[in-house]
Amino acid sequence: MLNYTHDIPTKVYFGKGSITHLEEALRQFGTNVLLGYGGGSIKKIGLYNEIMKILNDGGFRVTELSGIEPNPRIESVAKGVELCKENKIDVVLAVGGGSTIDCCKAICSGYYYEGDDLWYMVKHVKGPKKSLPLVDILTISATGSDFDGGGVITNLETNEKLGASFTYPSVSILDPTYTFSVSAYQTAAGSADIMSHIMEGYFSRTEDSELADGIAETILKTVIRNLPIALKEPDNYSARANLMHCESVACSGIPEYGKQSTGWSCHAMEHELSAYYDITHGVGLAILTPRWMRYILKKDPSCEWRFVRFAKNVWGLEGNDEHELALSGIAILEKFFKDNGIPMTLGELNIDETHFRAMADHACEGGRLANAFVPLESDDVMEIYKDCL
Ligand code: NZQ
Ligand code: ZN
Repeated sequence: MLNYTHDIPTKVYFGKGSITHLEEALRQFGTNVLLGYGGGSIKKIGLYNEIMKILNDGGFRVTELSGIEPNPRIESVAKGVELCKENKIDVVLAVGGGSTIDCCKAICSGYYYEGDDLWYMVKHVKGPKKSLPLVDILTISATGSDFDGGGVITNLETNEKLGASFTYPSVSILDPTYTFSVSAYQTAAGSADIMSHIMEGYFSRTEDSELADGIAETILKTVIRNLPIALKEPDNYSARANLMHCESVACSGIPEYGKQSTGWSCHAMEHELSAYYDITHGVGLAILTPRWMRYILKKDPSCEWRFVRFAKNVWGLEGNDEHELALSGIAILEKFFKDNGIPMTLGELNIDETHFRAMADHACEGGRLANAFVPLESDDVMEIYKDCL
């Protein structure tokens, strides 16, 4: 087991009615609030009015940044930074999914960025020293942005979608009832993202970080059990709460503590798909993951033991032929995604080979996947993309 550092400064209020903590969460930082949200789902579910009542009654001054896109754009970050400067904002309140929270994280860091090119900050600044405080209310279970310090920003002009360290939220409010309205497609995609965050770290060379592997397997089993329930009964509190609990822990680093880092190959490959085709992150991951698994298992059979463990401990499969077992674990994962309504080929998303070479080169730029669980080069990634067609 390797050394690790636990350093997550976010205070989380989890559960029905947690919005009662919003006022105190904001007031500790001041009364000038930037409210960031997406394309309007928070208005449809009445959350916007609920928040505005709390803020108006509490004497807060609110500036709004609406229309933050899924796969948030650098232009929205720039607009947010400008609004914060113009209005002398004390604290940013992000209400929505990973896209809104990520955009607001970049705004918080961009506020103190001294250069004039915010894309340069996303690309090159590793962990800005100072950021505005961020409070968030999560409305979809997927990314874990509420409990990590990273954010992913897209530049459609350069076809780049890049993850960066910005800032951790100071306070995250996680009320599963806000996710009742999430569509079946986004619920399934979000669950695939949660599972991917686990699988990216689970497939590691380290064999003896037992708690980390146990947490990872439990999260996978919890999502596998609760996603079909949430799809059938969108307002099933227990199912939504379990998915939300999983999403928050899955990307926090905790399920990887003590383990050798793995490169997060599927995320590197997926961010290219989103950068070129603006697709839903979780859908891209669901398509890539089983293909990546089959490819690396063939490329380096010494990793088979991990796949056997995955088949047994996550899916409850049994058998004496270890290779068959490994393949069955992958097949059942693919079927699970399909059965839950996720399109499982790039063709279904109208993606063809046109940009595969550029995407593969970029995913591997600077040897990014050279130390992955199974190291990958551009030609490997090309093969995986082609297999997804
Ligand atoms: O924009 P609105 O109207 O709010 O609609 C959103 C959006 O269309 C909708 N939605 C959210 N909550 C809803 C709802 N619809 C109905 N009811 C609700 N309660 O869902 C759609 C998707 O929202 P988005 O925020 O894009 O989803 P998600 O949370 O999956 O975020 C995806 C983004 O996060 C990045 C992804 O790459 C992508 O850009 N990631 C961030 C990570 C992080 N910060 O740690 C890690 C991840 O691996 C990921 O890369
Ligand atoms: Zn992800």
